[in-house]
Amino acid sequence: MEPILIAEGLTRHFGRLVAVDHLDLTVYRGEVFGFLGPNGAGKTTTIRLLNGILRPTEGRATLLGFDVATQGDAVRRYTGVLTENPSLYEHLTARENLRFYGDVYGYPEEKLPARIEAVLEAMGLADRADEPVGAYSKGMKQRLAIGKALLHEPPILFLDEPTAGLDPAAARAVTAMIAQLSHQEGRTIFLCTHNLTEAQRLCDRVGVINRGVLQAVGAPADLARQLWSGLRVEMDLHSEPSGAVWAAIKAHRGVRQASLVDGKVRLELESEEAIPGVIAAIVSAGGRIYSVMPEEHTLEEIYFEIQGANGASLEERK
Ligand SMILES: Nc1ncnc2c1ncn2[C@@H]1O[C@H](COP(=O)(O)OP(=O)(O)O)[C@@H](O)[C@H]1O
Ligand SMILES: [Mg+2]
Repeated sequence: MEPILIAEGLTRHFGRLVAVDHLDLTVYRGEVFGFLGPNGAGKTTTIRLLNGILRPTEGRATLLGFDVATQGDAVRRYTGVLTENPSLYEHLTARENLRFYGDVYGYPEEKLPARIEAVLEAMGLADRADEPVGAYSKGMKQRLAIGKALLHEPPILFLDEPTAGLDPAAARAVTAMIAQLSHQEGRTIFLCTHNLTEAQRLCDRVGVINRGVLQAVGAPADLARQLWSGLRVEMDLHSEPSGAVWAAIKAHRGVRQASLVDGKVRLELESEEAIPGVIAAIVSAGGRIYSVMPEEHTLEEIYFEIQGANGASLEERK
């Protein structure tokens, strides 16, 4: 895996407040990295630091080898940023907006028309491209704003709460678009969100931040393994287990707990190594197994386990 972004001890103070506190983080090329945390955790500040928009108080970060504090112009050539409140010209059409920003970015003049068409197509806006943006729905505006961030073909895209305030259908369209940018175009995506369902669908790895401090980072499955030892498994038997089947399950090595929940056998195992043996024990005690499903921890469960009582947003704690 090739690192595209490396932060070392990255820190930003605002007066006495430490908004980002000694952040160590590596983001790899091609991944969707989810940056999760409650309001006020320091997500937006981190994005601004990583794009050379704010200067760190301490520490450093490089993006494709460029120092974000001293080589901001170079950094921003390779990044696209969707900010929390993206600016679009409402009286201009989508196509005119993109043309305007293409000129601002200094995109090569001769290639710009084709690039604009490609972006409009990818964002699902081609058939509405000549309407003033003021008449667009919120979801369409957000897709156009993502298109604007992408116009100069940056290898890494920062998306700050891209589905905040969208209705479920619009949010789903934006999520699908992000997946496509990652899977089909191979772009690296740094996604700030507190929508954990969306993050679960999109992210290869996540970092959880609170009060400026990174609490954990990794692939959700790896985080789950660190947080909880053992494994939950649900089994569907053709009938309620007989006494002999229960005895076989409970006597088996690696089984910590067994219970019947909604007609299914729920097991807590020490590890997945125990699964084949338990199945064999049930079968030899006369049980017939229809299905065996390991229960995965959702990102939401992982998030709240990491955040604990700190998971509440700053507003709620006041
Ligand atoms: N320009 C600023 N001046 C003073 N405080 C700021 C500024 N920007 C952010 N903060 C504070 O830094 C903390 C982190 O903010 P932010 O990075 O916006 O969090 P998030 O994006 O995770 O909601 C908050 O307490 C916020 O009030
Ligand atoms: Mg923010």
